[in-house]
Amino acid sequence: MKSPLSSPASAAAAPPSSSSSPLRKTRLSPFLFALLSFIVFVSILYGEDLACIFGQQLQVRQSSARPGPRTGEPTGPSVSSSHVAKDESPDAGAPPAGGTTDEEVINGVLGSSDQRKSSGAGGEPVPFAIGRGEEGCDVFSGRWVRDESARPMYEESECPYIQPQLTCQEHGRPDRDYQHWRWQPHSCSLPRFNATLMLETLRGKRMMYVGDSLNRGQYVSMICLLHSLIPEGSKSMETFNSDSLTVFTAKDYNATIEFYWAPFLLESNSDNAVIHRVNERLVRKGSINKHGKHWKGVDILVFNSYLWWMSGVTVKILKGSFEDEVKDVEVMSTEDAYRIGMKSLVRWVQRNTDPKKTRVFFTSMSPTHGNSEEWGGGPGGNCYNQTTPIEDPNYWGSDSRKSIMQVIGEVFSKSKVPITFLNITQLSNYRKDAHTMIYKKQWSPLTPEKLANPVSYADCVHWCLPGLQDTWNELLFAKLFYP
Ligand SMILES: *[C@@H]1O[C@H](CO)[C@@H](O)[C@H](O)[C@H]1NC(C)=O
Ligand SMILES: *[C@@H]1O[C@H](CO)[C@@H](O)[C@H](O)[C@H]1NC(C)=O
Ligand SMILES: *[C@@H]1O[C@H](CO)[C@@H](O)[C@H](O)[C@H]1NC(C)=O
Ligand SMILES: *[C@@H]1O[C@H](CO)[C@@H](O)[C@H](O)[C@H]1NC(C)=O
Repeated sequence: MKSPLSSPASAAAAPPSSSSSPLRKTRLSPFLFALLSFIVFVSILYGEDLACIFGQQLQVRQSSARPGPRTGEPTGPSVSSSHVAKDESPDAGAPPAGGTTDEEVINGVLGSSDQRKSSGAGGEPVPFAIGRGEEGCDVFSGRWVRDESARPMYEESECPYIQPQLTCQEHGRPDRDYQHWRWQPHSCSLPRFNATLMLETLRGKRMMYVGDSLNRGQYVSMICLLHSLIPEGSKSMETFNSDSLTVFTAKDYNATIEFYWAPFLLESNSDNAVIHRVNERLVRKGSINKHGKHWKGVDILVFNSYLWWMSGVTVKILKGSFEDEVKDVEVMSTEDAYRIGMKSLVRWVQRNTDPKKTRVFFTSMSPTHGNSEEWGGGPGGNCYNQTTPIEDPNYWGSDSRKSIMQVIGEVFSKSKVPITFLNITQLSNYRKDAHTMIYKKQWSPLTPEKLANPVSYADCVHWCLPGLQDTWNELLFAKLFYP
């Protein structure tokens, strides 16, 4: 697993050779720096999704073996942070982590038990609900509090399904601080994630995450949160459909948790789950059924789609078919193109899901941390070497485009069927410390120039597991059972 893969596909996908990396220059103009950050960002985005697939295949083969202690555990010094918020206790009035039972949450914090059969705005019962969220509480508005006892919710070494692009400890990350934060909404408490309840709910059902590598991270997080309840030998992970579909099966529960690769949701020329590093991305209008036929009949759907639309200020939309000899292509603003994608998704959900049986979630933009000047750090830095969250409650990184958030808000508010929005952008924006940085499997050997300058190859897009994305699933859990 440590040796670099040498299959033709991985060679085709390896990041461009960087032997001529301009980062050798020590002084960079701000413009050049911005340009380089962008190039690094894009190359990570292109390279990683693919890397995830290979990593995952390795993990699949490995997953039948009993997970044992990992070799190659870092031996470096463990950084003990003296972060100011470390000993901060949770909000007065908020229960300590894990100190609330579901019963208390339902009866005390979230309303009386006769509201167990929760209903949506129109009075229709919401599938899977067992209670309701506290009136007026926005669970996405809050702050991170240090929690040494109840976080992380699992150990990296105990979850064999994490792709090697996200196993930060195994790849030498010196600190574990990023694992010990709990999300505390300002005006209520999150129900405690109950893995038994989640698994029992999935009995005889299918749950599917659809989207890009960030959604794949959230998918793997969910499996890590649940898998320890399932004995060895009655769980498996397999890939199908040229790796577009990954299926985790809990046999005794007749339940599956699946991931479907569709970074634009619509048909695109980046849909090959293995080779999708194309120079000119094309997204085909009106093509959602191409992938959507694989999502039909799923009971809980979790979509995302953002970063792949962000390669520039415009997106090329294909009007005809990919087979057309002369292609009818319209260049659009990213916002207009994204709106086409989101409208297609809403229409697909309206036509293909039954709101009495199905729950549909959409996860908002996952932020990146490519420029430390944005949070008051020195010039020339990024997420590399960051070990504490951003404390400014108003922090919002420039990579999380507000105009895109606006499109999401507009399109989903017009949906005739409920789509539950997981608004994780703000809370994730604080987490400059939670990225995989350089502590991940690298696809090609690093040049001495790169090694000498870790900022140049730090991944400030993806997130270590366990870590931030477990919180996304806690929020999903909260919205699923206590909408
Ligand atoms: C978790 O859910 C299960 C199944 O609904 C329930 O029996 C159990 O009491 C719950 N655990 C906690 C700590 O609330
Ligand atoms: C297993 O679950 C599927 C849905 O995912 C359902 O169609 C099927 O009937 C279930 N089988 C059994 C034996 O319960
Ligand atoms: C990383 O951070 C530490 C402490 O904040 C600092 O002393 C060190 O110089 C930093 N290293 C790099 C390479 O930026
Ligand atoms: C998501 O949350 C952010 C900040 O918390 C807010 O500005 C934005 O409007 C929200 N988005 C939607 C679509 O509700």
